[in-house]
Amino acid sequence: MLEGLFRTKSLEQLKASAEDPHHQLKRKLSAFDLTMFGIGAIIGAGIFSTIGTAAAGNLADGRPGAGPALILSFVLTAVACGFTALCYAELSSMIPVSGSAYTYAYATLGELMAWIIGWDLVLEYAVSNVAVAISWGDYARSLLDNLGLHIPGWLAIDPRTALTLSEGWLKQAALAAQPGLGVRMDLLAQAHQGLVDGGQVFAYWASVKDAPLVGGFPVTVNLLAVLITGLVTAVCVWGIKESSRVNSVMVVVKLVVLLGVIAMGAAYVDTKNWHPFTPNGFKGIQAGAAIIFFAFIGFDAVSTTAQECRDPGRDLPRGILWSLGICTAIYVLVTAVVTGMVHYTELAGKADPLAYVFEKHHLNGLAGVISVGAVIATAACLLVYQLGQPRILMAMSNDGLLGRWFGRIHPKHGTPSNATWLTGLVVALPAALMNIGEVVELSNIGTLFAFAIVCGGMLILRVRRPDAVRRFKTPLPWVIGPAGILSCFWLAAGLPTVTFVRFLIWLGVGLVVYLAFGVRNSRVRAAAAQAGGAQPGPQP
Ligand code: ALA
Repeated sequence: MLEGLFRTKSLEQLKASAEDPHHQLKRKLSAFDLTMFGIGAIIGAGIFSTIGTAAAGNLADGRPGAGPALILSFVLTAVACGFTALCYAELSSMIPVSGSAYTYAYATLGELMAWIIGWDLVLEYAVSNVAVAISWGDYARSLLDNLGLHIPGWLAIDPRTALTLSEGWLKQAALAAQPGLGVRMDLLAQAHQGLVDGGQVFAYWASVKDAPLVGGFPVTVNLLAVLITGLVTAVCVWGIKESSRVNSVMVVVKLVVLLGVIAMGAAYVDTKNWHPFTPNGFKGIQAGAAIIFFAFIGFDAVSTTAQECRDPGRDLPRGILWSLGICTAIYVLVTAVVTGMVHYTELAGKADPLAYVFEKHHLNGLAGVISVGAVIATAACLLVYQLGQPRILMAMSNDGLLGRWFGRIHPKHGTPSNATWLTGLVVALPAALMNIGEVVELSNIGTLFAFAIVCGGMLILRVRRPDAVRRFKTPLPWVIGPAGILSCFWLAAGLPTVTFVRFLIWLGVGLVVYLAFGVRNSRVRAAAAQAGGAQPGPQP
């Protein structure tokens, strides 16, 4: 039993299972499509909404701001992600199978670790998509508001946020934190009876005041987040080439918007705003990096389309590295412009920093264009993760670690339709009801864990399979691989303890699922038993 936990899947087995006619997807993607997918996944809510907090810091949770040196946070994070991207590029050129880090772990660390990574990737793909969907809902609502289309507040907010008490009222009541649910529901009842001023007590009174009540509890739901998730999921089921076309259009729009920010904003840069450049020294730069890491997540998602590429060994490394390079250049320039247009302290608490800096210079029309860009950018992000998650589930199902249902390919569309609809549901439900802050950091830690394993996996295969064909080779592997792992630790060190606790709980739940199902149904294990209990470990 124990030996099976560490049984690896050979490179030959992996390739053979990807070529099995029952698991065939349509091979239609080129290096250009892959680069577009990469940009689609990388540029999203991160650059449009986190750079304000990262530059100015957050007094409430004691995070120092990076100031204009956020430019350095971006460069450092890009270098850290670059190490990992090189390792992904090498592994994806050797193992052109859709499971991404899950598959690479199966080839290097064995079944148990592969399962853990597969389970962990749900945090990177589905959970980050919950954050992206919520953020899309926020942008779309303010855009619709500006166009005169008002969505009722209670259809655009999650229940937890809806019952948040205002900072001012908490201070007045000498409360250091939000009180329990009962107290807040009492206050809501009093506000409805006119006994207290709802606008003073609740931070989002305009949204909560008309919400229908069930047993005194306000029923609110983030409807826009649910609608966009449903729409994007349908596109993903429709077909890979169709998804790729929709993605390419959205990527072009977001590139035009961000290049516009750089070109038009440059004229309003006042270099005085770049002083002091590092107001909180290296601590500020590191805290900034931990926040904006979210903006880089996604270059690895390209590898989940391995079985749909025309020439995965050649094109996957290109897609991964080109998309990361292009996005890094754009991020650094956007940050330089934004921190040059206003003093970084003005960006504190700004959820839409890019639009804000243009409004500040009375360029309201441009601010509107940026909001449209943000809506489209986040929709493209959603699309790529919504494509990635089902393909990982499919790879796990093909290995027997999940039921066959998860791996079913739609006979007409050639996409993993069951897993795609399930992913839609798993993203839409929390997006309707959860708060964005709860999910972003969880998705960062999950991603960093997978990244570290991929860097380690590249090194392990260099030792175990020096002979295997590598159409892309990481330069200086014994420098880049360890540097990638250390960078992941460095970035994770910027996350709060509660995130680590939640992460461990998530992995614990995954372990239980594996012991209850995967361990009994593993195909690799069954094949080994049939072959008379072949030796566990690397299979040359
Ligand atoms: N990189 C993606 C974003 O910024 C997750 O939204």
